Amino acid sequence: MKGSKTALISGITGQDGSYLTELLIEKGYVVHGIIRRSSSFNTFRIDHLFKNKDLFNSRFFLHYGDLTDSSNINRLVEKVQPDEIYNLGAQSHVQVSFEVPEYTAEVDGIGTLRFLDAIKDTGLQTRFYQASTSELFGNTQEFPQTEKTPFSPRSPYAAAKLYAYWIVVNYREAYKIFACNGILFNHESERRGRTFVTRKITVAASEIVLGLQEKLLLGNLDSKRDWGYAPEYVEGMWRILQVNEPDDYILATNEAHTVREFVEESFKALGEEIIWSGSGINERGNLKSNGKEVVGINPRFFRPTEVDFLLGNPSKANEKLGWKPKTTFNELVKLMIASDFEKAKLRTIL
Ligand code: NAP
Ligand code: GDD
Repeated sequence: MKGSKTALISGITGQDGSYLTELLIEKGYVVHGIIRRSSSFNTFRIDHLFKNKDLFNSRFFLHYGDLTDSSNINRLVEKVQPDEIYNLGAQSHVQVSFEVPEYTAEVDGIGTLRFLDAIKDTGLQTRFYQASTSELFGNTQEFPQTEKTPFSPRSPYAAAKLYAYWIVVNYREAYKIFACNGILFNHESERRGRTFVTRKITVAASEIVLGLQEKLLLGNLDSKRDWGYAPEYVEGMWRILQVNEPDDYILATNEAHTVREFVEESFKALGEEIIWSGSGINERGNLKSNGKEVVGINPRFFRPTEVDFLLGNPSKANEKLGWKPKTTFNELVKLMIASDFEKAKLRTIL
């Protein structure tokens, strides 16, 4: 559309991609998204957008593609000629990256290089956002982490994202490409993938309270994360590309909680209290109301190397971009529980 900015998004079917698309469409952008061919439907987070007939094929377009395919990425960059590119596509599960390290490196590391090379080779004046991550800090002993904290990756996922981070910096310096890293700490929502710990907990707690599930099995309950609300973080991504000079920014809340606290707050939001007993792999959580054992440990969810504690300082984003997280930890848990409890209730009827 004449006069509108055009954005190209990889990872459009994911949590962040779906929220970012809504935000950009609201701002008047034409949005092109890259989707992967799948044997089952993988577009449930954006279905509401392409069912909107006024939007689809006027301001919202989908293209098949994959970050492992250079010719595809080149073609899309050349064809779409985007003003802004958001590279959100990734094998984004840390534990899974230990099972598929080479694929994770291909997609999360080299996939980023493929975009940057396409920009360099076409000479397109576009702005590039890279979905970098707090996992880069991994084993750090510096709290809270800032943009100056040295990286210490602890997984194949983090190592692949480390390459992506530095190749963004290098192409910015070497070829003057407007390329930026958003170093985002964990951000969750009602659309979070169900194998990430927060959503696994809110789905399970809702189902347990409704009698649809017996028990929630988890790994490391003591792990601490800085959890924010995803829609606010995608707004931060957009802001990162709107300033005059390309740079790298942390988006975080500067508040950390354990997985254990997330479990407690989730059950509390459902009117239940968890009583913990035992330790290590024998730790368990029982409902105070009826004594039922509803939380246990399964070592299968332990990682070969764990990131114990992440805490981010978002001061630079606040000062330079005017970005601030709003949703508190308790509010985040409550809104995820509210959504999953409603969904679980529907399953009791079916
Ligand atoms: P997500 O829900 O797992 O979504 C990942 C997206 O990447 C999906 O659309 C997925 O497509 C796509 N994808 C996977 N492999 C691909 C490939 N080979 N080629 C093209 N696309 C591919 O992740 P998210 O939570 O929205 O996160 C978005 C990005 O931010 C990721 O890069 C993640 O690593 C990074 N990040 C996330 C967080 C967080 O807390 N959420 C924090 C820091 C950084 P399918 O739907 O077909 O699988
Ligand atoms: N997934 C999962 N499942 N994690 C568990 C479980 C479980 O049953 N039990 C404990 N955990 C712990 C993990 O060991 C980790 O310490 C913490 O919960 C959070 O795990 P995830 O929710 O899987 O997220 P993550 O922090 O490893 O990675 C997410 O955030 C990164 C940003 O820091 C992903 O979104 C990454 O893509 C992202 O870069």
